[in-house]
Amino acid sequence: MPIKYYDASQTFLLETARSSYQMKIGPGGLLLHTYYGPRAVRPLPHTGQNPPESEVLPPDLFTDFVRLDRGFSPNPYDAGRDRTLSCDTLPLEYPCEGSGDYRPTALGIRGSLGVCGCDLRFRCYQIQEGKYTIPGLPAVYADDPADACTLVITLQDDAAGVQADLYYGLLASRDVITRSARIRNLGTEPIRLTGAASCCLDMLTGDWDLIHFHGRHCHEREFARTPVEERELTVGSRRGNSSHQQNPFVILADRHCDEDHGYCLGTALLYSGSFSACACREQFGLTRLLMGVQPERFDYPLAPGETFYTPEAAMAFSQDGLSHLSHLFHDLINSHIVRGPWKNRRRPILINNWEATGIEFRGSQILAIAEQAAELGVEMMVLDDGWFGRRSSDSAGLGDWYVNEEKLGCSIGQLADRIRDMGLRFGLWIEPEMVNEDSDLYRRHPDWVLRIPGKDPVRSRYQLVLDFSRPEIVDHVFRQIAEVIRECKANYVKMDMNRCLNDVWTAAEGLQSQGKILYQYTLGVYHFMDQLLTAFPDLLLEGCAGGGGRFDAGMLYYCPQIWCSDNTDAVDRLSIQYGTSFCYPVSTIGAHVSAVPNVTTGRTVPLRTRAAAAMAGTFGYELDLNELNDEEKKDVRGQITFFKEHWELLTLGLYYRLTSPDGASELAAWMEVERTGKEALVTAVSLSSHGNGPVRYVRLKGLEPNRLYRISIVNIPEPQFLFCRSGASLMYQGLLLPEDSAQHRDDRKIRGQYDCLQFLLQS
Ligand code: DGJ
Repeated sequence: MPIKYYDASQTFLLETARSSYQMKIGPGGLLLHTYYGPRAVRPLPHTGQNPPESEVLPPDLFTDFVRLDRGFSPNPYDAGRDRTLSCDTLPLEYPCEGSGDYRPTALGIRGSLGVCGCDLRFRCYQIQEGKYTIPGLPAVYADDPADACTLVITLQDDAAGVQADLYYGLLASRDVITRSARIRNLGTEPIRLTGAASCCLDMLTGDWDLIHFHGRHCHEREFARTPVEERELTVGSRRGNSSHQQNPFVILADRHCDEDHGYCLGTALLYSGSFSACACREQFGLTRLLMGVQPERFDYPLAPGETFYTPEAAMAFSQDGLSHLSHLFHDLINSHIVRGPWKNRRRPILINNWEATGIEFRGSQILAIAEQAAELGVEMMVLDDGWFGRRSSDSAGLGDWYVNEEKLGCSIGQLADRIRDMGLRFGLWIEPEMVNEDSDLYRRHPDWVLRIPGKDPVRSRYQLVLDFSRPEIVDHVFRQIAEVIRECKANYVKMDMNRCLNDVWTAAEGLQSQGKILYQYTLGVYHFMDQLLTAFPDLLLEGCAGGGGRFDAGMLYYCPQIWCSDNTDAVDRLSIQYGTSFCYPVSTIGAHVSAVPNVTTGRTVPLRTRAAAAMAGTFGYELDLNELNDEEKKDVRGQITFFKEHWELLTLGLYYRLTSPDGASELAAWMEVERTGKEALVTAVSLSSHGNGPVRYVRLKGLEPNRLYRISIVNIPEPQFLFCRSGASLMYQGLLLPEDSAQHRDDRKIRGQYDCLQFLLQS
C-alpha cells in the first residue's frame, strides 16, 4: 500500500511513483505537514543490508523543523509552559482560524453566538482501497480500485463541536494526490462555516513563484509568474463561475524551475464556481498555499449533525520542470477525470454555425452550411444559439426551450434528419441556467431568478440567472431540454453560460441560508449535467461559458471538451491555448478554424495557420465553407484527412511547449510526441517577419536521441520530405525552419508573419 503510517514516529507517508508526501502527528495532536517533494529515499540501516519492509525506517529527514520561542506567536493552552509550540509558526495540514495561527487559514467556523475559533487535533485515521467519491461534486476516479487508495485523517475540536475528515486520494502511478475535507457539526447548536479550503500546503523550504492564469472574455488563461513574497498573493473568482479572469489551476514553481528542470507542484480544483487560491511567505520563511471555495460570500450554515464537503483539489509534483507537470495533469484529466464513451476517443470533426450566421438564421442556411461541410469531410453539424423560443436577438427567448419551427422551416427532428441524410451527426446549443425577461418562462416565474428582495437585479447580456440552487428549477429546465434532445436525437450538446452571477439570493430560503447559495448553485449545475448524461449516455457534452469562462477540471468530469475562447483568431489563440496547456490536455480544448478577417480581431491569418492552431485542440470549423474558393476547399479536405489520420498523436501524445508566445517572441512552436517516441508533429508559427531575417531553429523535445527521424512538411498540398536527422541533433541543435525570402513565394517555406509549417517526424 503506498500509504503508510509509522507508529514510532507518528508519521503518515504517501508515496507515488516519483513523489512523497508526509505528515506527522505533532505535540498535542496537531497535524503537521512535513514534506511534499521528490520521492524520499529511506535511510539504509548500518548493516548495509535491506531490512524486511515491515522494519523499514520511515524517511524521517523531513521533520527537522525548528521550534523556537517566537514573540507574538502564541501557544495553545495545552502547551502549558512550552513557549516553542505555536500554530503561528508550525507547518500545518489544515490550519484553523482562531487557533493562534494568524496566517491565512483553511477553516473558519462561527459558533452559535458568532464566536470564531477552532483548534483541530488528531483523533484517528483509516486507510482504504480505491478512491473516495464526494456526494454531488466531481472527483478524480480510478476505474480499477487497485489503482488508487484513500487515507482519511479525522481531526476534531470537542469544544467547538467540529470534526474535519481530511481525505487523501492516491493515484500512485500517476504521481497524483487528491484532497478534500468533510466538515461535520458534532455539537448541539448550529454553526457556520466561513471558509473551508480544499487543501493547504505549507512548504518549509524553498523560494517559490506562483504561476497563475489570468485573463478576460476573449483572452483567457494568460500565463503569469509572480514571486511569492511576504504578502498574501490571492487569485480567484467571485463570479459564481470559475471565470475568464482567473483559472482554478495554480503552480508553485521553484524560482529556477523552467519547462525542463526544477521543482514545481500544481493544484487543480475540481470546481466550477467561485474559488480562491492564496500563496504567501510567512514571517519565518515558510510558504503556504491555500486553495478552495471562495471564502467571500461563503457563510454556510451547518445544523447539528450536518456535513459540508469541500470540492476536490488534485495535486502533482514534478522535479523535471513544467513540461512534466503538464504531462501529469494531462494524463490525470484524460484518464481519471473525463468519463464516458468519449474518453480517449476521437471526437467528431464539427462545424458550428455561430460565427457564420449569429442568432438570425434560417433552416435553409444551416442546411447549406452542413451540405458543403459534409462534402469536405466534416462529421457533425452543430446548431448554435437561436433555434428556440422567440429568439430574434440576444434580448429574447432564453428559457423557452421549445423549437422555433418558423425559423427552421421545419421541426427540429426533420432538420436533424436532413443533416443526418448528408452523413453528418447533429449537435445543439443550450444555455440552461439563464433567462431573458422577454420570455414565457420569466413571465410565468419571475421568482425563479436570483434576485435580492426589493432590488432590481443586475443584467448582463440582457440575461438574468435562474436559481439553480433549487432542484425543482433545475428539473424543470432539464425536462424541457431533454424533450428537444430526444426529438432531434442530438449526438452532441454545447452547454453555454453567458454571464456571471450577481444578486445571489434565493427566494426559497431565509436570511440564514443565503451564504450557501453560490455553492449550491454550482451543485445544481453539476446535477443538471448528471441528469443529461444519465438520460443520454452517448451524448458528447461540450462546456462553454462565453468561450472559456468555466474551463476547469470540475466541468471536465461531465464535458470531455470545453470551448476554449470566443476569440477564434488563430494568433490570439496561440497564447490562450499556450496558457490553457499547462493543465488541460489538447483533447479538452475546443478549437475551430474560422473566417478571415477574424470577427473579433479583424486580423487575417493564413488558412494553414488557422488549421494548425485548431489541431492543437478538438479541431472543427466555424464558418460558411461555401465562401471558400476551390483551392481553400481542397486545403480543408486535406486538413480533415490529416487530422483523422493523426488524431491519436495530436490529442493523446505528449504535448511539449517549445516557445512561449509572449510579445517578445519571434516564433510560437509546440509539438506532440507519440509515447514511444517514434513519431512527432512539430508546429511552428512565425510571429514576425524581417527583410533579410535571421536563420531560425527550434529545439525539439521528447524525442529518442538515438533514433533517426524522417522529417516531412505536411501542411502543404503535397507533403514534402525534407531530410533525416537524429533525435539528438533535433533536440540539441534544433530543427531548421525553411524560410522564404520575400521574392520567392514557396509553399514549403514559412511565408512571413503568421504563416506556419507543420513537420511530421517518423522513425
Ligand atoms: C458564447 C459562445 O462562446 C459562442 O460560441 C456562442 O455559442 C454564443 N455564446 C451564443 O450565444
